[in-house]
Amino acid sequence: MLHVLDHPLAAHVITHLRDKTTKPATFRTLCYQISLLLAIEATRSLPTEEKSIETPLEPMTGRVLTAQPLVVVPILRAGLGMVQPLLDLFPDVSVGYIGLERDHATAVARSYYCKLPPLAGRRVLLVDPMLATGGSAVQAIEVVRAQGGTDITLITIVSSPEGVAEVARHDPRLPVFTAALDRELNAKKYILPGLGDFGDRLYGT
Ligand code: PRP
Ligand code: URA
Repeated sequence: MLHVLDHPLAAHVITHLRDKTTKPATFRTLCYQISLLLAIEATRSLPTEEKSIETPLEPMTGRVLTAQPLVVVPILRAGLGMVQPLLDLFPDVSVGYIGLERDHATAVARSYYCKLPPLAGRRVLLVDPMLATGGSAVQAIEVVRAQGGTDITLITIVSSPEGVAEVARHDPRLPVFTAALDRELNAKKYILPGLGDFGDRLYGT
């Protein structure tokens, strides 16, 4: 289930992220901004409940978020750049980590770290800026499921059709929120037009 962010500010931010002259400090700010927009979109279905309050003028019944523990799980390393906006919007979230790194020659991801809080009954927001072959996302989804996570949403910044198809093949009902659906992968499994290596651009490596 793919949702592509459709907002003029998102288009503006993504264009500057793609620009190869954008330096890491600006890249990190843009990453924060686009992740915030995506986080708002991806949490549209969070449940709310009534709450009685008094404004300075009269009593009223408003709505507040129902206490439903959220877990944010960045796929290291690039996913780390997407965590802060979620912490700012939802200060009570727990954060788990899955470390995956693609082999430069094969583009197959290797797992090197995993630390997750209890996941049963919690909504898991899996965040990774790039969905290329989909190999990393599918591995991470499997890890989350193996540790009891059932309610999983994937949030990415740039996706390829191949990556979206791979996730859908694995789990057709899993919601995927992305800011851009790009054209294709190149021979080295980089997204075109893409923005290059997200982690390298985020951390200046
Ligand atoms: C990038 C990206 C994803 C993965 C996507 O990470 O952040 O995790 O590649 O590619 P895939 O869909 O083909 O698996 P990378 O492995 O380069 O590691 P990094 O975050 O440490 O830079
Ligand atoms: N990882 C990236 O950082 N960029 C791509 O285009 C593909 C995988």
